[in-house]
This record gives sequence, C-alpha cells and structure tokens, in this order.
Amino acid sequence: MQSDAVMIVTGATNGIGFVTAQELARTGARVLMVGRDKQRLDTSINQIKSDIPEAQLDGFVADLSRVSETLLLADHIQATYSRIDVLVNNAGAFYQTRQESAEGIEMTFALNHLAPFILTTSLINMLRASAPSRIITVSSAAHQGAKMNFEDLQFNKRYSGWQAYAQSKLANLLFTYELSDRLQGSDVSVNALHPGFVKTGFGKGPSTLFTSFFGLLQNYFALSAEQGAQTSIYLATSQEVTDVTGKYFVNKLPVASSRASYDYTARRKLWDVSQQLMNDHR
Ligand SMILES: NC(=O)c1ccc[n+]([C@@H]2O[C@H](COP(=O)([O-])OP(=O)(O)OC[C@H]3O[C@@H](n4cnc5c(N)ncnc54)[C@H](OP(=O)(O)O)[C@@H]3O)[C@@H](O)[C@H]2O)c1
Repeated sequence: MQSDAVMIVTGATNGIGFVTAQELARTGARVLMVGRDKQRLDTSINQIKSDIPEAQLDGFVADLSRVSETLLLADHIQATYSRIDVLVNNAGAFYQTRQESAEGIEMTFALNHLAPFILTTSLINMLRASAPSRIITVSSAAHQGAKMNFEDLQFNKRYSGWQAYAQSKLANLLFTYELSDRLQGSDVSVNALHPGFVKTGFGKGPSTLFTSFFGLLQNYFALSAEQGAQTSIYLATSQEVTDVTGKYFVNKLPVASSRASYDYTARRKLWDVSQQLMNDHR
C-alpha cells in the first residue's frame, strides 16, 4: 500500500464502518470518515484518536440518502485530495416502514444502492488514476432469494422492509459485477462482501415486535463489530486480493452469490436506472 494512501469509509460513525475506519487508520493511511451527523462524526474521530494518536482522520458530513449531498461529497473529495486508494461503501440501513428521502426516493434504495453507485462512479477517474486501487461494497447474505423488482423498484405499491433491504443488497452485487467488468484492465478492483450477522446499530429503531426479536437474536447469536469488520479490512488491505476483482466474499473467502446476482440484463438495467436517477437529481 502507498505510504500516502487515502481510504474512504462511509457509515464510519457506528458498527462495522467505525471499526473498519479505525483499523485502516492503524495502517498509517489517511482515512476519510463519512457520517451524516457532525457530532457523531467528531465523537468517532476523537475515539479513534485516543486509541491511535497518530491516526490521520478527516471527517465529512453527508446524508448519503440524498443524491445532491452524495454528489457534493464526491466533488469535495476530488477538490481536496490527489488520490484515492480504497473506497469502502459501508453505510446502509433497514427501514421497517416505507420512507422517502428528502428528494422523494425510497430510503432503502437511496441509501443502500444509489449512494454507492453515485459516490463510486463520481470518483471513478480518481480511483483509476490512483491504481492499483480498490472499491469495496458491504452487501449482505440477505440478497439470497431476492430479485430486482424493476416494475416497482421503490416499492410504491406494496412495501416490505425485508424485501426492500434484500433487493438493495442484491443491487450491491449487480453493481459490483458490472463495474468490475467495465474496469477490466484498469487495476481497480471491485468486490463485495457479507460481514456476517453482527451486533451493531443495524435493525434498531422504534420498539416493535420486529426490533425486540431482532435485538434478542443479536444478543445471542451476533458477531461483534470488530469481528464483522474483518472481511472489509481484509479486502481493503490484504496483498492476497490485489488482483482479485468481481467477487463476493464471506469470512475473507470468495464464494458464489445468488443466481440473480449474475444476471447480465439486470446488471445493465440497474446501471441505466441508477444513472438516470442520478442525472434527474443533479
Ligand atoms: N449488522 C449486520 O448484521 C449486517 C449484516 C449484513 C450486512 N450489513 C451491512 O453492513 C453495513 C454496515 O451496517 P452496520 O451493521 O454497521 O450498521 P450501523 O451500526 O447501523 O451503521 C450504519 C452506518 O451507516 C450510517 N448511515 C445511516 N444512514 C445514513 C445516511 N442517510 N447517510 C449517511 N450515513 C448513514 C450510520 O450513521 P449514524 O451513526 O448516524 O446512524 C452508521 O454510521 C450496512 O451496509 C449493512 O446493510 C450488516
């Protein structure tokens, strides 16, 4: 890894993203921590600095559910830094009820899929110029069994939190595979991962039967955030994966993802829809 390496982690204020940022900072890289709340971002930065005084950390506030803020974030990064070695698209959430972003896009789709698509494609020239570089997206085993509902991508007709989440995580894989192909020969690798079932802020929300049950499962069966961040850190730093691209990792190993995730037509269709939504909100 470059001695002046720059690495971006979204959703760095909690859970898997926080630990990922912390461990990447330990390598000596400058870590750009992205969070939606200034106070939580400052607290996270201070927490890492108290553990690693020499850590090079820069905080960026952006609500990634908004196309406009994601584009601004990309502009800001491009104007401030001369290279990007690693981009970890980690921010994500599960919404029990259907919600829309400030720009009127269904939240799960906006945050979990559109934000990685927009941030990555907006920074692609810098990532290319900094090659060898790495793009990593935190997907989920929840993609298994999901399909892309192109007729109603934003669940306007009937909302299911789980289906919306599973679709967004399938979208992460379709995007990863499509981008990896588009970047063949560029020395920019593109991979996705499932972190495991991890006890984080994920699935928390107003107390309902779902959140209580989910919390109970987390208490008994979940990995710690430190354990859950291991595959992200591995993909960001290990020499073993320098030349590996277009793969889905679980427990630091490449594994097959669902059949639907390898659908070429869906890959291209999703790309076009995402590009259109990005342009509509420029
Ligand atoms: N936990 C699991 O079992 C599990 C399993 C499979 C996949 N994943 C995936 O792992 C990734 C990380 O999740 P986690 O478990 O670490 O959850 P988490 O503890 O809830 O952390 C999510 C991070 O995303 C940020 N975020 C949420 N909404 C945002 C927005 N609108 N704009 C910018 N940032 C926003 C959060 O910021 P705040 O601190 O402000 O809330 C937080 O930093 C997600 O993509 C999730 O889908 C998790």
